[in-house]
Amino acid sequence: MFFSYQAFLLASCIPVGFWASAQTIVVNDTKIAANLSTVAPAAEVISGNSGLLDEETSQLTDAVLANLTDLSLTNISLFAFADSITSKKDRRAPSESCKTYPGDASWPNNMTWGMLDLLTGGALIKTVPIASPCYNNWGNYDAARCKYVTDKFSNVSLHLADPSSVMFPLWEGTTCMPTADMTESCTLGGYPSYIVNVTKVAQMQLAVNFARNQNLRLVIKNTGHDFLGRSSGAGALSVWTNHFKSIVFEESYTATDYSGPAIKIGAGVENKELYEAAEKFGVTAVGGLCTTVGVAGGYIAGGGHSPMSPHYGMGADQVLSLGVVTADGRFVTADATQNQDLFWALRGGGPSSYGIVTSATLKVYPKLPAVAIMKFSFTASSAAAWEAIKAYWQAVPSFIDDGHYMYWNVIPLGNGTISFGIYPWFAPNTTTEQLKNYTAPLFATFASYGVDVTPTYQEFTSYLPAWHASTDAEAVSSITRRSTSRLFPREYIEDATKFNQTFTALKSIIDLGGVLVGYGITGGPANVSIPDNAVNPAWRDTALFVIPAVSWGADLSREEVAAFSMNFTNSWLQPLRDASPGVGAYANEGDIMEPDFQQSFWGTPYERLYAFKRSVDPTGLFYAHEGVGSEDWYVTGQLEGLPTQNGKLCRV
Ligand SMILES: Cc1cc2nc3c(=O)[nH]c(=O)nc-3n(C[C@H](O)[C@H](O)[C@H](O)COP(=O)(O)OP(=O)(O)OC[C@H]3O[C@@H](n4cnc5c(N)ncnc54)[C@H](O)[C@@H]3O)c2cc1C
Ligand SMILES: *[C@@H]1O[C@H](CO)[C@@H](O)[C@H](O)[C@H]1NC(C)=O
Ligand SMILES: *[C@@H]1O[C@H](CO)[C@@H](O)[C@H](O)[C@H]1NC(C)=O
Ligand SMILES: *[C@@H]1O[C@H](CO)[C@@H](O)[C@H](O)[C@H]1NC(C)=O
Ligand SMILES: *[C@@H]1O[C@H](CO)[C@@H](O)[C@H](O)[C@H]1NC(C)=O
Ligand SMILES: *[C@@H]1O[C@H](CO)[C@@H](O)[C@H](O)[C@H]1NC(C)=O
Ligand SMILES: *[C@@H]1O[C@H](CO)[C@@H](O)[C@H](O)[C@H]1NC(C)=O
Ligand SMILES: *[C@@H]1O[C@H](CO)[C@@H](O)[C@H](O)[C@H]1NC(C)=O
Ligand SMILES: *[C@@H]1O[C@H](CO)[C@@H](O)[C@H](O)[C@H]1NC(C)=O
Ligand SMILES: *[C@@H]1O[C@H](CO)[C@@H](O)[C@H](O)[C@H]1NC(C)=O
Ligand SMILES: *[C@@H]1O[C@H](CO)[C@@H](O)[C@H](O)[C@H]1NC(C)=O
Ligand SMILES: *[C@@H]1O[C@H](CO)[C@@H](O)[C@H](O)[C@H]1NC(C)=O
Ligand SMILES: *[C@@H]1O[C@H](CO)[C@@H](O)[C@H](O)[C@H]1NC(C)=O
Repeated sequence: MFFSYQAFLLASCIPVGFWASAQTIVVNDTKIAANLSTVAPAAEVISGNSGLLDEETSQLTDAVLANLTDLSLTNISLFAFADSITSKKDRRAPSESCKTYPGDASWPNNMTWGMLDLLTGGALIKTVPIASPCYNNWGNYDAARCKYVTDKFSNVSLHLADPSSVMFPLWEGTTCMPTADMTESCTLGGYPSYIVNVTKVAQMQLAVNFARNQNLRLVIKNTGHDFLGRSSGAGALSVWTNHFKSIVFEESYTATDYSGPAIKIGAGVENKELYEAAEKFGVTAVGGLCTTVGVAGGYIAGGGHSPMSPHYGMGADQVLSLGVVTADGRFVTADATQNQDLFWALRGGGPSSYGIVTSATLKVYPKLPAVAIMKFSFTASSAAAWEAIKAYWQAVPSFIDDGHYMYWNVIPLGNGTISFGIYPWFAPNTTTEQLKNYTAPLFATFASYGVDVTPTYQEFTSYLPAWHASTDAEAVSSITRRSTSRLFPREYIEDATKFNQTFTALKSIIDLGGVLVGYGITGGPANVSIPDNAVNPAWRDTALFVIPAVSWGADLSREEVAAFSMNFTNSWLQPLRDASPGVGAYANEGDIMEPDFQQSFWGTPYERLYAFKRSVDPTGLFYAHEGVGSEDWYVTGQLEGLPTQNGKLCRV
């Protein structure tokens, strides 16, 4: 037993002892009271040198369920695996058009939720929206807490620690935002109804079986960083994976096509935690730029780009093995020799679509002897700035060929001037002196347009401190801003005619009043043999990855925002799509309304992904906005132009 009864009573919203007095359970033919000390956690501990993370050693098995043969008030078959269910009554999902929603007759009753709480060892949390202490109507008004949440709302730490909050509140539905007016109404919106705070695979399996058997919407939240609101969902049961924090170093991992060092991480490990572990083990790991993005969650599932991508490829390319709870409730390993289709799909084929990843084993590389980083920004007249930016973009293919990574931005200042910055310019295996030398011709070109820059250089002896110096604390996204994305393969830069069109299209976003954030990066370095996985093929010859963004006034009505948002996608972005027809975009930082998202986000593998999705998840347990198979579902009650997760999830 790993949860004390006391802790359970404190953490739970269930009236003290309500099930303990009422429920009985038959264990091995003996009827006893069902309580935390008799049945929880419902798990079998797998012992021995199995290579499993600690979180993975407690599993729900047939033997565990067989032990729980009967419950007086709740049928244990609600927790059964898909393959052990024979009765139609227990397999509701395919026949119903919408996921069961709060208020529906078949919504689980209080006792049933209590049973899930009991079997998970008291890990069930009933959602309390993060800003609800600002409102009278939720019953927990607390002026001090409201002030704290209001002051800290843009701070990611606040949301990381919260079971249901997400960092793009716009796509949750902006319900229950911090407010100074306590008489407004806080509603659950796109937040899930319940969350299982999982620390063991068995709890994930119980949640998966429960949600599938009861036709509930299932959501997975790791950090809540998702750009498209894919870690929220109204009326859902959410699995909160962020506390799967184990990290294990394997000095000599062998697979069919790899032999070398590897790091195995739990589903909740964030970039910073991976990088700190890699530093400790004396190796270099491939992860994202920002501190708290989850590596084995959305990042790898969506492909994952990294400061090390121009050397080693995408985050998903590093994966040697995955632990996964599949839609049938089973815990499996997916790698090059078992569950190969699942292994293929989970590396780039999109999050929350094929299973819940429990762990990822990643290739790691020798420690870098030197890393130089540089930062600069300048403000110049529009004409001069564009000449400099054009010169930089044109040189990007050669920079990435040399293994450099650049994170840049273009911001119109509204008075005929433009600011352009690159921070960081990240140069692995390079000294400051080399980097100064390397960038001298670019800056000479800038100077010839009258643009002078004073870059700062720093040099480090490994990845961790260089990465640390490269990134600022990320913030929660504003609700008056949104973005889109576009990948530009090198031919759109190297071919003069294509580049002219690309440049003109990108510039038009600034001329219209948007901003551009982007990367000089590739997901397909020449000297790397790219594994066969589901990463969007457009990444492989990408040189520029661009994230155009717009913001709007806080005074606009929802209808006005929706209209502006539609025009952004359909009109502002059309020149970019015309400049690189049939190329693609990055779902993880993508457009909430990407036209033909199947082609754009997933590319030619889409057909195979969709067929696999239907075979591995026949009831549609997993759903992600613009994910594989999402065309078979819709969220009710949405405004065109502003699609949120606040509505029932129904079959098309
Ligand atoms: C500040 C910031 C910086 C970023 N920087 C980068 C970057 O440098 N490189 C890059 O490639 N991307 C970057 N991204 C995008 C990032 O990859 C996505 O936001 C990604 O979805 C985050 O995954 P998460 O697990 O942290 O977030 P979550 O919002 O918790 O989850 C994202 C999606 O993954 C699903 N999911 C989470 N865990 C699991 C699991 N265990 N099994 C199955 N599905 C799961 C969720 O259901 C959801 O659909 C950045 C995003 C932000 C906000
Ligand atoms: C059960 O119902 C009570 C009273 O309505 C409520 O306070 C409690 O949160 C419910 N428990 C669960 C697990 O939903
Ligand atoms: C269940 O009961 C049987 C018969 O009494 C006994 O042989 C078996 O060991 C018991 N199993 C467990 C897990 O207690
Ligand atoms: C749980 O049930 C067992 C068996 O009936 C009983 O001995 C025990 O006191 C109960 N524990 C609690 C905390 O209710
Ligand atoms: C089944 O229940 C018995 C008695 O409580 C327990 O000893 C045994 O470990 C359980 N088996 C499993 C697989 O949970
Ligand atoms: C539980 O469900 C199974 C399968 O539908 C059924 O056979 C059994 O009678 C049910 N038990 C109770 C106590 O309702
Ligand atoms: C966010 O909050 C955490 C925890 O309270 C704090 O340590 C951190 O400095 C804050 N970050 C920012 C950017 O304010
Ligand atoms: C979730 O579980 C973790 C690990 O047990 C614990 O530290 C944390 O306090 C829990 N969070 C909530 C909100 O229950
Ligand atoms: C334009 O605006 C920016 C930002 O306010 C300012 O820094 C800059 O000096 C201005 N330039 C001119 C030419 O007015
Ligand atoms: C760094 O340079 C060393 C020595 O030239 C070389 O062996 C190593 O492969 C390089 N590493 C990377 C990541 O380029
Ligand atoms: C810098 O460049 C010059 C001329 O291109 C070259 O002679 C010199 O060796 C370079 N220095 C370094 C450290 O690469
Ligand atoms: C580039 O585009 C501009 C504007 O569309 C056009 O005037 C110019 O002729 C083009 N130049 C080339 C080399 O295609
Ligand atoms: C839509 O966007 C285009 C630019 O693509 C712009 O010219 C037009 O004014 C916008 N329309 C509205 C209604 O905002």
